[in-house]
Amino acid sequence: MTPIVLDCDPGHDDAIALLLALASPELELLGVTTTYGNQTLEKTTANALRVLELVGRQDVPVAMGASAPLERELVVAAHVHGESGLDGPTLPPASTEPVSDDALAWLARVIDGAGTPVTLVPTGPLTNVARYLETHGTAGLERIVLMGGAIAEGNMTPAAEFNIWADPEAAQIVFDAELDVTMIGLDVTHKAVTGPGVQRRLRETGRVGVFVAELVELFTVYHRQTYGWDGAPIHDAVAVAHLLAPDLVETRLRNVEVERDSELCRGRTVVDLWHRTERPANAHVGVDLDTDAFFDLLVDRIGTVG
Ligand code: BDR
Ligand code: CA
Repeated sequence: MTPIVLDCDPGHDDAIALLLALASPELELLGVTTTYGNQTLEKTTANALRVLELVGRQDVPVAMGASAPLERELVVAAHVHGESGLDGPTLPPASTEPVSDDALAWLARVIDGAGTPVTLVPTGPLTNVARYLETHGTAGLERIVLMGGAIAEGNMTPAAEFNIWADPEAAQIVFDAELDVTMIGLDVTHKAVTGPGVQRRLRETGRVGVFVAELVELFTVYHRQTYGWDGAPIHDAVAVAHLLAPDLVETRLRNVEVERDSELCRGRTVVDLWHRTERPANAHVGVDLDTDAFFDLLVDRIGTVG
């Protein structure tokens, strides 16, 4: 079993990524750390707890992390995920609380005691991970598989993906780390777009599948308006799926730098796909996805949880 920590901002696709991790016996989910992002930290943390309660996994610790980026102003994605950050299905408030340690202290303790190197799976802005790396270094970490960035796409701006745009300074710290980093960006996750067929299959798997299909319905509203899609990209679940079936995502080992100076291109991940520079490779960059195999895996696993 691979020990992982999901660092997330649920968020519709974060919630699905969390459920996929819980449903996967190959992974040992040590806990969840939360960040601002799709909504405020308070709301994303409440959402993580609510999703865990939905599937009876209140035993999974949730530690609260950053409420704002390292240097930039806080901007949340209510236009995509709604006022709660998880609009759509009705979920009762959680009866549990986050752990008393903050994300950094909790991570340090858990990584130190894990025995096996831990994989971090960040699916929100990278503030928590950057702070952790700056404070504690890379000891005890196996790798980072993050959802964020893009080679040739943007969703927050024409130039940049939301998670990286939100805290570009943090993202640069992560790409600079002496660690195996994998970037699952929009070029890949825009191939993980559901459609009516996937939603029907999810519903047929049972109670949790219905919940996921309802999340997808709300998440589709923004993507229908913006892209004309009859579905939604399940971005964050692709990062978890990559750990389960590495061949789902095709990657290339390349240099990635994050634009931090210009306002126009803030948060752009500049990927040296064609070796135009001598800059050393620092990330496995996702370039393609086996869409059918991804959804087969997702639907199968969601059917086993809760
Ligand atoms: C990323 O931003 C958020 O809206 C999603 O949860 C995902 O992590 C996609 O750009
Ligand atoms: Ca996210």
